[in-house]
Amino acid sequence: MNIDAPNKLSRTNASANAKPGVSAPSGSPVFKSFDFSDADFRRLQQMIFDDAGISLNSNKKPMAYSRLSRRLRQLNFSTFGEYLDFVESSGDDERVKFINALTTNLTYFFREPHHFPILVEHLTGMVTTEPLVVWSAACSTGEEPYSIAMAVIEAFATDQPPVRIIASDLDTDALATAERGVYSMEKLESLSPQRLKKFFLKGAGAQAGFARIRPEVQRLVEFRQTNLHDGPWDIEAPVAAIFCRNGMIYFNKATQAKILARFMPLLRPDGLLFAGHSENFFYNAGDIFRSRGKTVYELAT
Ligand SMILES: C[S@@+](CC[C@H](N)C(=O)[O-])C[C@H]1O[C@@H](n2cnc3c(N)ncnc32)[C@H](O)[C@@H]1O
Repeated sequence: MNIDAPNKLSRTNASANAKPGVSAPSGSPVFKSFDFSDADFRRLQQMIFDDAGISLNSNKKPMAYSRLSRRLRQLNFSTFGEYLDFVESSGDDERVKFINALTTNLTYFFREPHHFPILVEHLTGMVTTEPLVVWSAACSTGEEPYSIAMAVIEAFATDQPPVRIIASDLDTDALATAERGVYSMEKLESLSPQRLKKFFLKGAGAQAGFARIRPEVQRLVEFRQTNLHDGPWDIEAPVAAIFCRNGMIYFNKATQAKILARFMPLLRPDGLLFAGHSENFFYNAGDIFRSRGKTVYELAT
């Protein structure tokens, strides 16, 4: 079997701070440091908030330094001030790299596993003539939408279930990894041997240590770039379920409330919203969503 190993831009996501090539391996040369004043950091905070809605806490300055210093080195800048000037003047290309570096993509297969039985019970009980749409709204490197696809294939006992999964993220590097659908065996450790065998093709030879999601699973998922903070959302309503897990924590309360208000008209009246374990939407949008427990929400009206 021929699988392409992930390219240099793909991430292992072993830690929330891990970004491609940013952390120097031990034993590598000591790189020069860059001037990064508090004023530069405040400017950077404003820029990532304006672009992505991400509220970077002041204790994230070392993280921002670590994630962006490789880029400064590549571009031969000596200070963050120069780099931020460049981001602002160079148009979309560098903006995208800047945003991609500052997003946090930690994810894994069947994360918060209690959500998947709730989802499939919900979907299998729905009466519809059209395929049911599930939106994974901050899908990172694809583990969440592919987990949804696997759960749905199992629940409907067919690899052609009446379900379409739309998977979106702002980070173009994460989306490229997701679309590639190739993961290191390390990332697949949380899957049962049965799921691994049923839903993945293991690489051999030069591709040993990697596995590709099978085409029948990948076929259920459509990837697209969407900025939750801003701009139009290319999502076909009505949506049976929205997974918006572990992304909202990077937004402030006002941004969260704005996003939740935009989710409402996209959902079917009986649709469900799945949040991350530390994301309590009830306090942000109690008039729109009602908790069903286990960080699952339904429309309040
Ligand atoms: C920690 S990951 C969560 C992945 C997955 N939902 C999970 O729970 O495992 C958060 C994702 O939110 C994405 N993100 C951050 N800001 C965003 C925005 N404004 N619009 C869309 N996605 C965004 C990041 O790129 C990142 O992939």
